[in-house]
Amino acid sequence: MPDGQDLATRRNPFTWLVFRLPEPSRRLQVGIAIAVVLTQAGIAVTGSIVRVTSSGLGCPTWPKCFPDSLTPTSNSNVAGFHQAIEFGNRMLTYVVVAAAAAIVIAVVRAGRRREVKMYAWFIPGSTIVQAIVGGITVRTGLLWWTVAIHMLLSMAMVWISVLLLEKVRQDDAGSVRVLTPAPIRWLTAISAVVLTGALIAGTMVTGAGPHAGDKSADDPVKRLDEPIVDLVHFHADFVIAYVSILIALAFALLALGTTQQVRRRLYVVLAVAVAQGLIGLIQYWTNVPAVLVVFHVAGAAACVGTTAALWAGQRPRTAVREADAEPSTLVAK
Ligand code: HEM
Repeated sequence: MPDGQDLATRRNPFTWLVFRLPEPSRRLQVGIAIAVVLTQAGIAVTGSIVRVTSSGLGCPTWPKCFPDSLTPTSNSNVAGFHQAIEFGNRMLTYVVVAAAAAIVIAVVRAGRRREVKMYAWFIPGSTIVQAIVGGITVRTGLLWWTVAIHMLLSMAMVWISVLLLEKVRQDDAGSVRVLTPAPIRWLTAISAVVLTGALIAGTMVTGAGPHAGDKSADDPVKRLDEPIVDLVHFHADFVIAYVSILIALAFALLALGTTQQVRRRLYVVLAVAVAQGLIGLIQYWTNVPAVLVVFHVAGAAACVGTTAALWAGQRPRTAVREADAEPSTLVAK
């Protein structure tokens, strides 16, 4: 039976329409939330394919591919291959939008708690912002710092999508259960801040690196004019700090004890971060081959997603009434 608040929300035309649909199961909501995470991370990876194949201006205008055509068309200045890659990436935006719309509809229809709906609404909202920033990158001729902002926003959206997935999975009626002491959670937050530094520095390396996104000789893409070796060192310093914090977290959690789930999440972040560091090193030693850049961007999204899961996993909402239990009492053998 709907409560008073439910009835009030149904007066809004959007919710009135949504409530014509059948109620989605929790399983379906979780499936859609997983699709949100995958599409948000996926578009960053396909965006990198655009960049390393120099297809960034394959469609030189936005939102139309050419001033007089919405889709790729025969053009003497732009090869069909570049048009197809850039246009394909733009089409993927529709999949991202579909997932973003589906999660809002699903959680509103299921009458989920307020924070779940708030996080869900954030996805279509920030997707619109990303579409605008993507358009700006094209119109500025792929100016390096606009591309960097586009990439960093994508990473922020991966973080939010993972938090949304966690919240969708949890019971609305449950209570928050703290599984680690506050200093451990602060250290996890610090790891996320340092990871952000690594991401920002990484986009600067890209800004000075060989993959500008377009190879036009007449109108070359403006690059970050700094020695790339210095920038790579700056980037790697953040990475070393990030991995060191994760190692410190692992020792602290081993000493203090926590649930098996938190421990498993930490080991996954560590494995992903080390693998990502290795890809970075190999691409540095081998003059940044295009294919490794694509893996490196996927790895960056994986670092963000797994760090977000580690953060969220330390304060899950469960139906269990152990919310006030001491972390040390929650050790999983
Ligand atoms: C946790 C580890 C790491 C993370 C999260 C990370 C993240 C990133 C990000 C987000 C970018 C920018 C991608 C873009 O704008 O398209 C980038 C670029 C880059 N990173 Fe890393 N990175 C890591 C480790 C490393 C290491 C250890 C090295 C080598 C010492 C390295 C070398 C590079 C290089 C050379 C680029 C420029 C690639 C290009 O020209 O597109 N990275 N990294």
